[in-house]
Amino acid sequence: MRLLRGILLLQVMLSACQHETNKDIAQEPNLMSIENHSYANVADIHTTHLHLDLTVNFQNKQLKGVVRHEMKNSGTKEAIFDVSGLKINKVTLGIKTKELNTKYELRGAKDPVLGQALWVEITPETKQVNIYYETTEKSEALDWLDSALTSSKSKPFLYTQGQAILTRTWIPIQDVPSNRITYSAELKVPKDLMAVMSASNPKEKNSLGEYQFEMKQPIPCYLIALAVGDLVYGELSHNTGVYCEPELLKESMYEFVDLPDMMNAAEKLYGSYAWDQYDLLILPYSFPFGGMENPRLTFANPTLIAGDRSLVSVIAHELAHSWSGNLVTNETWNDFWLNEGFTVYFENRIMEEIIGKKGADNLALVEFFELEEEMERIIEGTHPEDGHLFLDLKDRNPDDGMTDVAYVKGAFFLKTLEAAVGREKMDNFLEGYFDHFKFTSVNTADFVDYLNQELLEKYNIDFNYKEWIYDKGIPENCHKIESNSFKHMEDMAKRFSQGEDIFSNEIKSPVNKRASLKREMHSVQEWLTFIRFLPSVLSEQQMTTLDENLKFTAWTNAEIQFEWFMKAISSDYSAAYPAIESFLSKVGRRKFILPLYKQLYSYKHSKKMALDWFEEFKDNYHAVSSNSIDAALEIRK
Ligand code: BES
Ligand code: ZN
Repeated sequence: MRLLRGILLLQVMLSACQHETNKDIAQEPNLMSIENHSYANVADIHTTHLHLDLTVNFQNKQLKGVVRHEMKNSGTKEAIFDVSGLKINKVTLGIKTKELNTKYELRGAKDPVLGQALWVEITPETKQVNIYYETTEKSEALDWLDSALTSSKSKPFLYTQGQAILTRTWIPIQDVPSNRITYSAELKVPKDLMAVMSASNPKEKNSLGEYQFEMKQPIPCYLIALAVGDLVYGELSHNTGVYCEPELLKESMYEFVDLPDMMNAAEKLYGSYAWDQYDLLILPYSFPFGGMENPRLTFANPTLIAGDRSLVSVIAHELAHSWSGNLVTNETWNDFWLNEGFTVYFENRIMEEIIGKKGADNLALVEFFELEEEMERIIEGTHPEDGHLFLDLKDRNPDDGMTDVAYVKGAFFLKTLEAAVGREKMDNFLEGYFDHFKFTSVNTADFVDYLNQELLEKYNIDFNYKEWIYDKGIPENCHKIESNSFKHMEDMAKRFSQGEDIFSNEIKSPVNKRASLKREMHSVQEWLTFIRFLPSVLSEQQMTTLDENLKFTAWTNAEIQFEWFMKAISSDYSAAYPAIESFLSKVGRRKFILPLYKQLYSYKHSKKMALDWFEEFKDNYHAVSSNSIDAALEIRK
């Protein structure tokens, strides 16, 4: 991998020489030739361990203290870190109590995506750099919630979101996924709150509000995570459990009861779990994702608590990241599909163990429908090359790579490969891959080499992986999933839209099962499919009939709400607007609220609602969501 990077760099340098007329390249100062969305000079010096010593202050919404970087220095006189939205107070060299101040400087203009380079003067012998700093309101990883936005409504909450490049907004750090570090931390928090991290965690509050943490296994720094709130712990098995606010404990324990079985299924597939403990942390509704795979402690959105365990595949997904992503990490954000595509494939294998093949196929098919739509949008958009698995995100926000291409095209690539080589060979190959690359970062070329060596050439299999990885679109040979129950739902949707009464109670004939359509007869995924196959504009009468019979507007399953609300907006079904408003006032999950705001904004009849509601609710969202919506609604500051 290192060698490969060296060669790539050489190629870049050579091509820079060949194009001497290209002033941009020739005049770029060394510091600014950004690779991998980072300013850090990791080739010369890199962190091996970091220690955080921070005070968490809810009054002024600030973290303040010091980060101590233990570094491997190959003899350089400068160390460069990534920072964004941080105030640096002082930088010292050497171990605690024997520290000496050193020179430092924030270099270059602040880039809206990458932030700034923090340059620090060191000596060739320097092994420890200590940066004293405080966060600001521009520290985008941090979501400080007033108590009104929590379940208890009585205690405030703080959490961080590091992936992809937001760790630099709460810790001055070399913010690249290709470097691995261990970390430890000492935190001081208000006495009535508990702190947890992606590390060894307390199970109870302590009266001093002082907590210590340790992450012994090396991780990429986007996985450093912190949350502070009124938390309790519920154990699900000897090494799994749930952290949440006290009000949510009972429902969480019910919803996620399958976690120990998921762990067994995962270990059976790809080898033992490397991180000792696996807990969930249920965050407030503002959390911008369904889940985030912070090691030992997956951060989860409370919208997953549907009451019927229908959305737990997200947990299977985050657990799967304990192998794909956390153990074997994408080397750059261009290789993001190695994290997410593998994880979606793995997630589906876990779900197959938990709910059986048919259910798992239906989950995958819902995702495939989404991929088809997204691929069309991408190919017609300004960056059709985003339809490739291997991306080119130079000069772009790595978040742009977070599409169904990395997730679902990635997963279907592996499903197609599995169908071609057979499950046994596929399983051995993947288990070998995780073992071979554990605790390292991998790029797409590394994967291709390993694929050729350990699977394709080894068994003399002809498989066109190139069109999957380096071309846009969904290849012809893509694995097809057939689902009779989905066909049935599609058929129901069509018949309804053609005016047929699908809610009549009589069964018309035993062969042609046109049974009545009752909500309890079908799974959430089947209902999602039913809604998806309705035309995008329905009459008021049709929407009302659906609502009377199936109660979609009142259904508190977030996936159903989302799909139904999208239809309600395009159909201008005003009876659903209060429910949409209430959903947007509470939920901050970007996957739902960004498309909802875009949908509202795109119709004349609802444009004003988009603007008014966003104005009213934007402070309830994490910056990850509010920034995306801000851009989508063309709001200029
Ligand atoms: N790691 C991702 C979330 C992420 C990706 C955050 C890129 C920031 C940048 C997480 O594992 C994820 O994929 N979450 C999905 C779950 C789903 C695909 C099952 C989500 O939140 O919707
Ligand atoms: Zn993921």
